[in-house]
Amino acid sequence: MSKFNNLKFQNESFPKTSDVLNNSPAYNEKKKADKINLIKKLLKEKDAKIIAHYYTHEDIQEVAELTGGNVSDSLEMAKFGASQSSKTLVVAGVRFMGETAKILNPEKKILMPTLDAECSLDLNCPAPELLKFRQRYPDRQLVVYANTSAEVKAMADWVVTSSIAVKLIEYLNKKNIKLIWAPDKHLGNYLNDKTNANMKLWNASCIVHEEFKATALIKLMKENKDAAVLVHPESPKEVVELADVVGSTSQLISACKNLPHNKMIVATDNRIFYKMKKAAPNKTLIEAPTGGKGATCISCAHCPWMAMNNLDNLIETLIDEKNEIIVDETIRKKAFISTNKMIDFAKTL
Ligand code: 13P
Ligand code: SF4
Repeated sequence: MSKFNNLKFQNESFPKTSDVLNNSPAYNEKKKADKINLIKKLLKEKDAKIIAHYYTHEDIQEVAELTGGNVSDSLEMAKFGASQSSKTLVVAGVRFMGETAKILNPEKKILMPTLDAECSLDLNCPAPELLKFRQRYPDRQLVVYANTSAEVKAMADWVVTSSIAVKLIEYLNKKNIKLIWAPDKHLGNYLNDKTNANMKLWNASCIVHEEFKATALIKLMKENKDAAVLVHPESPKEVVELADVVGSTSQLISACKNLPHNKMIVATDNRIFYKMKKAAPNKTLIEAPTGGKGATCISCAHCPWMAMNNLDNLIETLIDEKNEIIVDETIRKKAFISTNKMIDFAKTL
C-alpha cells in the first residue's frame, strides 16, 4: 500500500510538500546508480518508455533522458506518448497526465509510479458540478485545461495546455465562438486579458502557483534589478503582471536560455531548475517568493503530488506492472475527440 494513502486530498487538507518529501526515499550516488541500472533493464524487458514532467525529481528526469524517454511540458508529454511504438508508457507526473496518455493511446499500457499524484485543479473541477455550470450557458462552448479528469475532457469541446492556450482562444474568439473556461481561474483571467474573449470562468487554482506573492516579488526585483522575471500563467494576476515572460514550463526554459539576462527570477515549481540549469548553465536562478516559508507554506514552490514520484516507486511499478491507468472506454472515446483536437490544432501552429 502506498505511503500516501493516509493523506487526505480534500481542499482544506491537501498534502504538504514537506510531508511528502519527508516520506520519500533518499539514496547516495552508488545506490542511485544501481537503481538507474535496474530501471534501464526493466524498461527493456517490459518494452516501456518513461514520460516525465519537469516538476518531478531530477533523478526521475535524469533516468527518463538516459533511457530514450521524454521530459517535457504537458503538451509535449501527450505528443511524445502518441509518437512511441513501445507497448508500455510510464508517466511520471500527475494523474491527468497518465489519463491523457491513455486517452490518446488506448492500445498501450499506461503505468504511473503512484496513482495518488493528483492536481488541485483536477480535484476542484468535478464533472457533475462542471456540467451544471455549463448548463447555465447553453450558447457557449467549453474549453478545458489539460489539468482535468478524463470525464471532464469527455464533456469538453476543446482541451488545451498552457503552451498553446493563447493561440487557441484567439482562434476561437476570431470565429466569434463564445466560451466557458475551466478550471484554472488565473489562467482563464490571463487568457481573457490577452484575447478579449470574455470567457466565463470556473473558480479553481493551482496550490503551487497560488502561493506566489506580488509584494514580495516586487521587493526581490528591486534587489535584483538585472534579473528577468519568468512566470507560469497559473500564477495570480498581480504576479503575472510583473513578468518579462509568461509561458508554459517549456516556454520558460527557452526564455531562460534565450533572454540576454544572466539572472532569472522564476515563478513556477522549483524542480524546473534542473532543466533550466542544463539549458543555461551560467545563469543565476532565483525562486520567486511564496507566501510563507517552511511549515507555513503548503507547497513552498514544489507540487506535493509531483513530489510523490521517486525511483523506488518507479521500480516497483515496472516490476509489478502496477498502478495502471484505466479509463472507461465510452468516456475515453469522447475525451479523445477534444484532446486530439488539441494535438491537431498544435500541428497548425
Ligand atoms: P505545463 O503544461 O506548462 O507543463 O504545465 C503543467 C502544470 O501542471 C503546471 O502546473
Ligand atoms: Fe496541478 Fe499545480 Fe501540481 Fe501543476 S503544479 S500538477 S497545476 S497542483
